[in-house]
Amino acid sequence: MKVLLTGGTGYIGSHTAVCLMQSGHEPVLFDNLSNSKKDVVQAIARITGKEPAFVEGDIRSKTLLEDVLRRHEIDAVIHFAGLKAVGESCEKPLLYYDNNIAGTVCLLEAMKACAVGKLIFSSSSTVYGTPSALPLTEDMPTGTPTNPYGRTKLMIEEILQDLCRADPGFSAVCLRYFNPIGAHESGLIGEDPNGIPNNLLPYVARVASGKLEYVRVFGNDYPTPDGTGVRDYIHVVDLARGHVAALDYAQTHAGWEAVNLGTGRGTSVLEMIAAFEKACGKKLPYRILPRRAGDIAANWCSPEKAHRLLGWKAQYGVEEMCASSWKFEQLHS
Ligand code: NAD
Ligand code: UFG
Repeated sequence: MKVLLTGGTGYIGSHTAVCLMQSGHEPVLFDNLSNSKKDVVQAIARITGKEPAFVEGDIRSKTLLEDVLRRHEIDAVIHFAGLKAVGESCEKPLLYYDNNIAGTVCLLEAMKACAVGKLIFSSSSTVYGTPSALPLTEDMPTGTPTNPYGRTKLMIEEILQDLCRADPGFSAVCLRYFNPIGAHESGLIGEDPNGIPNNLLPYVARVASGKLEYVRVFGNDYPTPDGTGVRDYIHVVDLARGHVAALDYAQTHAGWEAVNLGTGRGTSVLEMIAAFEKACGKKLPYRILPRRAGDIAANWCSPEKAHRLLGWKAQYGVEEMCASSWKFEQLHS
């Protein structure tokens, strides 16, 4: 299939591009480079032996999108493009609603104009809000995300539900990612956030490489086995494989589906630090700080539906996640 990847040079988009190419699909990367670099296209070429098509552009430009959809005869879209910093979304909510929501509506209009009826959407476990029970399953009601970023994910899921009701031939698969970490085994692509990382793993990696002094552990008084926050970390390469499986599913199924992508296992902050120590072979200093506002104690998913519907299962554990993240950090220090 010819697949448009909005946000295709980003962290998850680039890994998915590799996986699609290795599965015989033809991705077209579309990105405004607001949070990624064009060099990623060359890195993908080094991994796969072929340079993917790349178009620099913004999803809020309908004419450009229509032109790309027609020119490349696109069969389906995987929609990664979006802003994702929780703190920034509280400071600049309109930016998030414009970029994420208005951008998605613009993309959907362009798809309609070009008769492209298959979309895979990057959703998030944040749509569940504070879990009432674990593991999280897709039939549980969505909750109240604690920030504008999370609300954009929930709103887009609802927009896609409305669209599928109005157009029964349309296929929308919302992949609810848990906590993607790690990097491609080559070390050529990975997550390289600007400034001080918000997320645990990139922060830990920078402590390991000496760029930051110590890991800040946000709270050790949660009702979890060691008191620190528990999350369902998933290797980004497993996540990428999940998109290829969702694309195969969308080829033969119409309608709206939400599917969790996680391992089904929870790991605490202290356990992640220990796993990274093993990967990098050094002790990592940490300090316990107060809880971070808006954080939940624990979440992990049931990956059952992904297995049943898409035939997908995560293959990697936290060891491989930390080892690949460390390799990427060393090559990019
Ligand atoms: P990323 O920032 O690395 O990738 C997103 C890409 O979208 C970037 O390359 C950015 O330049 C591009 N982009 C943003 N706005 C755009 C616009 N208006 N037009 C064109 N391109 C635009 O982030 P990621 O981690 O790869 O996340 C991909 C998607 O997955 C996002 O929608 C994100 O919200 C979602 N998600 C990520 C996580 C996570 O922890 N990484 C968790 C759940 C959901
Ligand atoms: N944490 C620390 N120190 C840090 C960073 C995080 O102790 O420096 C802790 C957090 O308190 C939490 C855990 O590590 O317990 C994971 O935090 P992350 O920031 O890595 O990830 P979150 O679960 O908070 O958020 C992620 C994505 C969001 C998404 C959410 C739900 O970053 O975009 O998962 O899918 F909305």
